[in-house]
Amino acid sequence: MSKVYAMFFSATGNTKKNLLAMAEGVAAALGAGGAPLEVEAVDVTCEPAPAPREFGPEDFALFGMPVYAGRLPLAVKDRLASFKGRGTPCLVAVSYGNRHYEDALLELADMAAAQGFAVKGGAALIGRHTYGEIQVTRPDADDLAACRAFAAEAALREGAAPAIPGNRPYRDGIMGGRFRPLTSEACVSCGLCVRSCPMQAIAEDCRTVAGNCLSCFRCIRICPVGAKNMDVPAYRDFAAMFSEKLKERRENEFF
Ligand SMILES: Cc1cc2nc3c(=O)[nH]c(=O)nc-3n(C[C@H](O)[C@H](O)[C@H](O)COP(=O)(O)O)c2cc1C
Ligand code: SF4
Ligand code: SF4
Repeated sequence: MSKVYAMFFSATGNTKKNLLAMAEGVAAALGAGGAPLEVEAVDVTCEPAPAPREFGPEDFALFGMPVYAGRLPLAVKDRLASFKGRGTPCLVAVSYGNRHYEDALLELADMAAAQGFAVKGGAALIGRHTYGEIQVTRPDADDLAACRAFAAEAALREGAAPAIPGNRPYRDGIMGGRFRPLTSEACVSCGLCVRSCPMQAIAEDCRTVAGNCLSCFRCIRICPVGAKNMDVPAYRDFAAMFSEKLKERRENEFF
């Protein structure tokens, strides 16, 4: 084996944490003489058109994406499309916010297979939901340890991957959500949200948000002074209802 590549989109960081833990597990399992393989993180979150890359059978690939409405996020899923394998062994993982992942993991596995990767396993993993206060501490240390252990075992599997749940044709997907972030008087015009938006949707004035916004809340989470917000009654009411509805903890699933 030469190297482990972890390729992901992760607006609020859950997928990134999960996938890097899995990559560590793979690297440890496939390393020689007690030394893990090198891991390269390929983060496409702020890359609308990542440079094409090709991987060989001696590499190991991991693909990660969040779940939007039970599918991969339609506006960004093609960011992983320029990565091609030649029988490259691979694991796929989706992060979802404690509701459900429906067809998203199957979709990611199908995508990887169509691009020349040999899918050896998959994981559907809980992360803090974008909206409301749902599983706010996840993925936690136990989740990440489970990711490492699963990936280490799956990397050594012989033969085809076990069946991954989901339906074909996939359910209808969405480009993003309906909430558009607001900006309060506290904004110090540092430009961090402008530079970090996955869709380049925030104008140079740091306030105007274009229609292609995903409602991913990345800008809200990273603003250093808490100026970006969704502080309106319609969101607060939705968030309270949704948080109550999804309060029961779900567990990670590994295939
Ligand atoms: C537009 C949108 C739709 C979402 N749809 C779902 C969903 O169908 N099921 C679910 O459990 N979580 C859903 N979530 C929550 C995310 O999947 C979850 O927070 C995920 O861990 C985010 O990953 P990230 O931090 O890598 O961006 C949605 C989030 C957004 C923004
Ligand atoms: S990150 Fe926050 S403070 Fe910085 S420009 Fe954006 S809204 Fe303003
Ligand atoms: S403006 Fe929209 S797409 Fe950009 S980071 Fe904020 S919520 Fe995400």
